[in-house]
Amino acid sequence: MKHNPTHIGQVESVSGNSVAIKMASNYPSNMPIVDGTVYRIGQIGSFLKIPLGYANLYGLITQAGVLAMPDSLLMAYKENPSTADGHRWLRMILVGEQIGSSFERGVLQSPTSGDQVHLVTNEDLRIVYGGYNVQSSIEIGHQSASEGLRAQLDMDKLISRHCAILGATGSGKSNAVSIIVKAIAEKAFPSARVLMIDPHGEYASSLSGKCRVFRVGANAAVGEEELCVPFWALPFKELMAIFPGKLSDQNEDYIRGKVLELKRVSAGVIGGLREEAITADSPIAFSINQLWFELDDFERITFKADRITPETRNAAGDPATLKSNQYPTAGMGSSAPFLNTRAKGILGFLDGMRSRLLDQSYNFLFRPVGYSPALDGGTPNDLPRLFATWFGHGVPISILDLSAIPSDVMQAISGCILKITYDALYWGQNTLVGGKRQPLLVVLDEAHAYLKAGEDSISSRTVQAIAKEGRKYGVGMLLVTQRPSELDETVLSQCGSIIALRMTNTRDKGHVSAAMQDELREMAEVLSSLRTGEAIVSGEAVRIPSRVKFFQADNAVKSSDPIASTLWTSSRPDVEEYEISVLNWRNQSFN
Ligand SMILES: Nc1ncnc2c1ncn2[C@@H]1O[C@H](COP(=O)(O)OP(=O)(O)OP(=O)(O)O)[C@@H](O)[C@H]1O
Ligand SMILES: [Mg+2]
Repeated sequence: MKHNPTHIGQVESVSGNSVAIKMASNYPSNMPIVDGTVYRIGQIGSFLKIPLGYANLYGLITQAGVLAMPDSLLMAYKENPSTADGHRWLRMILVGEQIGSSFERGVLQSPTSGDQVHLVTNEDLRIVYGGYNVQSSIEIGHQSASEGLRAQLDMDKLISRHCAILGATGSGKSNAVSIIVKAIAEKAFPSARVLMIDPHGEYASSLSGKCRVFRVGANAAVGEEELCVPFWALPFKELMAIFPGKLSDQNEDYIRGKVLELKRVSAGVIGGLREEAITADSPIAFSINQLWFELDDFERITFKADRITPETRNAAGDPATLKSNQYPTAGMGSSAPFLNTRAKGILGFLDGMRSRLLDQSYNFLFRPVGYSPALDGGTPNDLPRLFATWFGHGVPISILDLSAIPSDVMQAISGCILKITYDALYWGQNTLVGGKRQPLLVVLDEAHAYLKAGEDSISSRTVQAIAKEGRKYGVGMLLVTQRPSELDETVLSQCGSIIALRMTNTRDKGHVSAAMQDELREMAEVLSSLRTGEAIVSGEAVRIPSRVKFFQADNAVKSSDPIASTLWTSSRPDVEEYEISVLNWRNQSFN
């Protein structure tokens, strides 16, 4: 009988969704040629087909080799390896069913032992991978199984159910992000909104023409805008968390009261606000210098003999420059001047607060250009203007480039940006710019830098909130990290789609496989052997889990790795350069 070139073996056992396949012993080659195309058999992540009369069942290979044997045979083999009879084994999980030319995810029927198993040809794959909605699908690369087959993602699911891109350093995460985001931008939706947190300033070049860049120390000549994140938009607790040092609950309440007083005054100027709704958490401008000055004064003030009249100041302070008022030093025992008996003992905290307020690297927060409150709390611009600059420009992508920000501030700034944006969309949920009417995709590259499991930071709290309930308010998340094991597990488990690139660390692989759907867990083993730019894509954004090779971005993502063997060929630079280095360090600037 002539051998059917697509027939490769038969079903040996079925348990649940998992099928063990014994390959035919007379199978001529591992790389058969069918209709002029070379196929590779037994590639993890590729498909096999079981024809059942009117329907074809499709499965994804998850294991090849002796471990793919049915459990009963495997036990016998482990006891006595000579029981292996030279057959090769594959194990696959059933993923879908084809009837006519339509492919459905999930299977209604099961194969039985003895059913024939066939290779899946390009013709079949076109049916399996087809069927995406044109309006909502984006093309990101091709199927590893065959270069001729496009790999697509369902953009709607990707955004509404969150997605994680995971992989070791250099595995192609940033490239994948730029391909995905660019594909979204190229759909040319008039009101698409993507906000990218870009810690290394990598994306502006690969997305040029489709993005607006905001960064600290912006270069206006190339169209960049200054990145501002007004501190006063933060909830009180998050604002206090930016300052070093801890406050007792009582002292925190005391400062909260002071902030509330200042916000009430500003609220009166803004107008149209319900007085009882205003709290220390309200996003209303107030002068933090004034706050510091008043708190500091209360700690330092001394009194005359009547213990009521303040002493005459030795020197007047200045809230604008954060200089304390100076009073005559309190005397010992029962002689004037007297200390303020109601002082809170928070001078240590206030000193820390002062030095942070003076720290130039926090200018984006405490002295945001155009949003910095005067001592009376008034600001030239208000929050609606900030959101209009971030999202109201004519292009779909807003890149917040954090490359000029010292890494210890990264967590605070990315957290603040996310918090402010999420709150604005949450409270605007019934407006045209709310997430329900105009969804927002937030891209968090290098998330391990500011999101650590078990850390109670503003960024982790906000990302958890977005992961849990962002879907309801139209905020989707594309989370990128090289350390999935350091990420909060609830966040990872809320990601409806997982794009897993090459990864070698066992702990990381464990976390990824735990986040993937049950049957695919065995596939985590293949993660260490993926090529650069190749990924196992699973979850809601794909019709079926697939092994995909991403396109390479034309205008490659800016790689920041200095090449030692090339760079060391130039002559040794003048040591004067260190002068500039130290000057920049002292000035906290790269200019
Ligand atoms: N699909 C692809 N095809 C070909 N080359 C690729 C592909 N994806 C990435 N590369 C190349 O691999 C290198 C690393 O890619 P990329 O910067 O995207 O990695 P990464 O995972 O973001 O690394 P890191 O964790 O260090 O940020 C780049 O030089 C890039 O050009
Ligand atoms: Mg990267």
